[in-house]
Amino acid sequence: MRGMQPVGILSTGSYVPERVLTNADLEQMVDTSDEWIVTRTGIRERRICSPEQASSDLAYEAAVKALQRANVAAEDLDMIIVATVTPDMLFPSTACLLQDRLGAKKAAAFDVSAACTGFLYGIATASQFIASGLYRYVLVVGVEALSKITDYTNRNTCVLFGDGAGAALLGPVPDGYGFQSFELGADGSGGPLLQQPAGGSRIPASSESVEKRLHYISMNGGEVFKFAVRVMNAATDAVLEKAGVSKEEVDLLVPHQANLRIIDAAIKRFGLSEEKVVVNLDRYGNMSSASIPVALDEALEAGRISEGDTVVLVGFGGGLTWGASLLKWTFQRV
Ligand code: UT7
Repeated sequence: MRGMQPVGILSTGSYVPERVLTNADLEQMVDTSDEWIVTRTGIRERRICSPEQASSDLAYEAAVKALQRANVAAEDLDMIIVATVTPDMLFPSTACLLQDRLGAKKAAAFDVSAACTGFLYGIATASQFIASGLYRYVLVVGVEALSKITDYTNRNTCVLFGDGAGAALLGPVPDGYGFQSFELGADGSGGPLLQQPAGGSRIPASSESVEKRLHYISMNGGEVFKFAVRVMNAATDAVLEKAGVSKEEVDLLVPHQANLRIIDAAIKRFGLSEEKVVVNLDRYGNMSSASIPVALDEALEAGRISEGDTVVLVGFGGGLTWGASLLKWTFQRV
């Protein structure tokens, strides 16, 4: 992005619902065990929305925190991008619902649908508007209420997912800092491996679609696993190369939180020590587009990121999609 305004993450915020669903709770619901879930996934518990809560409610809580931390008023936002596969409704967009609730009157607003890679697609899009000088402040929120589309009679999927929201405020930063590279990709031929079959225009909602349980997440876990390991490595390699940074220079890796075995494979390949990798899936499970921003927010809160650190965000998900970004972190603004 030579010659353009450098863009960085000015602040973050996150929110998870209060209700905790533990592996012991799931043992009462399906034929599973804490031992199976922990050894195969690393997940111990996840947060679940109340019946009244929808994605925009979670997004609002995370967004308010991010704005407060940056001391930026909602009225000053130029654009809001919400990454989600569990919007409040198919339309209007969750970004528009959030814009209204925040009172972000001058902000353009739209949703991005890239499943677990949604936050990365969102920040890559947002940063272009700031780099070009068109906008100053863009809020990107990754939010999911996956419990609303999870089949709690299907042990293959119900142990994996959780609800939450993570927000990041993007804006101008000094030269040499902020986003150094992005990598985004898609392979639509893998779409059927991870999908919510009904509720769109292909299979509109009907009593038959409900009876066949087609409104729930359907997934081929084994195939998604293999894909995930491959693209996590490739996407990380790509952002390192584009930024001219070696893997030894990475201070913190914030990977999508789907399965500890997928993260471990990446740690091994890049030879990273464990303290350089953020893992919170034991407490939250897979929150799809919210995973990376919540993990990033927790890392910042825990003081794990310092001025000038090299931070890599990397994820993969339904679509199939993948993405990564490399940042030179700064707490300075211009
Ligand atoms: O964000 C992107 C979204 N998705 C993912 O990232 C998912 C990626 N995939 C995965 O994380 C893993 O493939 C899973 C955790 C979903 C599954 O782990 P696995 O090691 O690939 O197990 P498997 O699907 O090969 O299943 C092994 C066995 C099967 O039994 P049989 O056929 O060998 O008798 C399953 O029926 O484990 C059984 N199984 C379970 N057993 C107890 C599957 N789910 C469960 C369960 N509890 N919850």
